[in-house]
Amino acid sequence: MNPPHHSSATSASSRKLVQIDTARLYRDNIGAEGITTAELDELAPELRRIHQTVMAQSRGGADAEFASLNLHTVMPDSLASIETMAAQIRQFEDVIVIGIGGSSLGAKAVHHAMTAVHPDSSAPRLHFLENIDPYRLRTILQTRKAEKVGVICISKSGGTVETAIQYLILREWLEKKLGKDKARAHQWLVTDPASGWLRELAGREGLPSLPVPPKVGGRFSVLTAVGLLPLAVAGVDIRALLAGAADNAARCATDDIHTNPALEIAALFYLLDINKNKRVSIMMPYADPLELIVDWYRQLWAESLGKRMETRPGRPPAGTLPVRAMGAVDQHSQLQMYLESRLDKVFTFLALDSWDQDFSIPLPEEHRKYFPYLAGKKMGQVLEAEFQATRQVITETGHPNMTLRLPAISEHVIGQLIDLYQRITVYTGLLYGINPLDQPAVEKGKKLAIQLLSGDHSA
Ligand code: PA5
Repeated sequence: MNPPHHSSATSASSRKLVQIDTARLYRDNIGAEGITTAELDELAPELRRIHQTVMAQSRGGADAEFASLNLHTVMPDSLASIETMAAQIRQFEDVIVIGIGGSSLGAKAVHHAMTAVHPDSSAPRLHFLENIDPYRLRTILQTRKAEKVGVICISKSGGTVETAIQYLILREWLEKKLGKDKARAHQWLVTDPASGWLRELAGREGLPSLPVPPKVGGRFSVLTAVGLLPLAVAGVDIRALLAGAADNAARCATDDIHTNPALEIAALFYLLDINKNKRVSIMMPYADPLELIVDWYRQLWAESLGKRMETRPGRPPAGTLPVRAMGAVDQHSQLQMYLESRLDKVFTFLALDSWDQDFSIPLPEEHRKYFPYLAGKKMGQVLEAEFQATRQVITETGHPNMTLRLPAISEHVIGQLIDLYQRITVYTGLLYGINPLDQPAVEKGKKLAIQLLSGDHSA
């Protein structure tokens, strides 16, 4: 395979950690809507127990219950086969990645971030087909040449209907254009190692495939072949992504909130819901490349935590509503509501430490009198000032908020964010007393749709 467009896995300077500033979630800094150290102290024994459970159940390789928190040690053995497959797929001009939910959002988010920052001109164009939308599919089929198109179909269960439909249509298109035998050389599958429609198809037709570790569910699978294969095709440095996850895991190895940021954030967000009625969790990045990272977080948080409390019947259901806002755009859209409506929100800002791409603002004399404050400024400085101003007014309004400062937009940094949020999500789920890994209500909806398609309208 062509080497990745840049490699940041090994250089010490590119392994800087995300700075995590939780100060404004505390009462001392935000006032009555914040959490006190006494509330946290009360939770400390529970936090220790939860951390120990998570650590014990993430050891033991791919079969561990929380294997998703240990993929930086599970996946390195599979990287060579992922990279070999990616090299074959890179021969195509267009690669269609079919998958939905957790089988798409992670790869799409990292791809969006990394291609914005370091576009790889030798990589194929990736098209993520998530929704079943006839217009989108028609456009792709009408504008691409089958000889130049590769298809990666991703489904953990191997039978999700939206994914199956799109794959069936693309298979038929490839077969009509190229013939059955040739069409087979344009298809790759990522699915359960043992069961499901896709696994059976791979066996029957000899289609190349990669397994998803059995215990790793969709929304926790971006660091398996689910995310790593399409990302390697796009020229993303998947080793640096795993190195970032490993560095964050090392940072979260203790059972003490003062030294484990994932545990601290989980505890604070849990207490903000339970004790302070913060029911909306807004994530607001000040950098366009991070836009889809928020969509990935939104699914992870909502599908993992939005559940009935199993261990405490009678208590309100678990979970807070994850919401995406973009800085600075949503200052002109949502901010009015944030500042004058209910105090039911908690904010997470993502901001860059510095911009390696920037523009000086040209300000000829005739324009200067209108924008004197822009003289000598760069675009990145303006965005930083807007971020700081927004955070300050949010803080003055009394909304608890935290800031993640990213040293750069790189695979290593995104790997850290992925591990951090997967960890926070699992800890928070255990604090609520729910299983963060299942999605019983989603399964209900899937079954009902199948019932309706089968002509059973009694449901
Ligand atoms: O996170 C999850 O488990 C879900 O969002 C799944 O990823 C989604 O339903 C797709 O499932 P599958 O990968 O089995 O096609």
